[in-house]
Amino acid sequence: MLRIAVMVSGGGTNLQALIDAQGRGEIPHGEIVCVVSNKQGAGALDRAAKAGIPSFVCRKADYPDTDARDDALLEFFRQNKVDVVVLAGYLAILTEKVIRQYPNRIINIHPSLIPSFCGMGFYGLRVHEAALAAGVKVTGATVHFVNEVADGGAIIAQKPVMVADDDTPESLQLRVMEQAEWQLLPYVTEQLCAGNIEVIDGKAYIRDERKGI
Ligand code: GRF
Repeated sequence: MLRIAVMVSGGGTNLQALIDAQGRGEIPHGEIVCVVSNKQGAGALDRAAKAGIPSFVCRKADYPDTDARDDALLEFFRQNKVDVVVLAGYLAILTEKVIRQYPNRIINIHPSLIPSFCGMGFYGLRVHEAALAAGVKVTGATVHFVNEVADGGAIIAQKPVMVADDDTPESLQLRVMEQAEWQLLPYVTEQLCAGNIEVIDGKAYIRDERKGI
C-alpha cells in the first residue's frame, strides 16, 4: 500500500473525491496519509480534518526563502513516509528540488485537455474562460506527471466533456469537475499506486485493461 500526500490550495472538491473513492474501496493500493496546503484557511483543510487526515500548511511567507520552505515540505513528507504526491487543485509550482525526490511519483489534475488552455496563468476559472473564448465544443480534464514545466509533464489520462452553447465559465467548471475530474483523479491515483503506469520515451501509458474511467 503506497502512502499518498494530497496537496491543495482551495475548496478541495478533488480531495473530497479522493477521500470518497478511498471510502468506497476504489484506491486499494494507496492510502491518503496527509494533506498539504499552501493557503491557510483553505476549505480543503476542513475536509481533511473531517476525514481525520493530518494536514500541514506550508506557506512561502513563513520561511526565509524557497529552499527553507522546500526543506520543511520534504521533511514533512519524510515524517509521513510519503510515496506518492497528488496535486488536487494546488495552485503553486513545485520546485525541482521537491520534484527530484519523487520521479514519476507526482501527478496533477488540470481542468482542460492539455495542450489546450494550460501552462502559466491557466488555473481555476481562467481555464474555462479561455475555452469559452476560443469557442471549443469539447473540453475536459487531464491528469499528468509533474515536472519543472507548468502542466508540462507526460499526460497519463484525459476525459472529454461537452461544452454547451449557453455555458458560463462557472457552469463549465462544474461540469468538468462532475463529469471528468472527480472520476479521473481517483482512478489515476489508484493506477499509479498499483504500479500500472509506465513511462516510455517521455510518454505515459496505463496498463489497465479495464481503463475504468
Ligand atoms: C480544479 O478545477 C482543478 O482541476 C484545478 O483547480 C480546481 C480545484 O478545485 N487545478 P478543488 O479545490 O479541488 O475544488
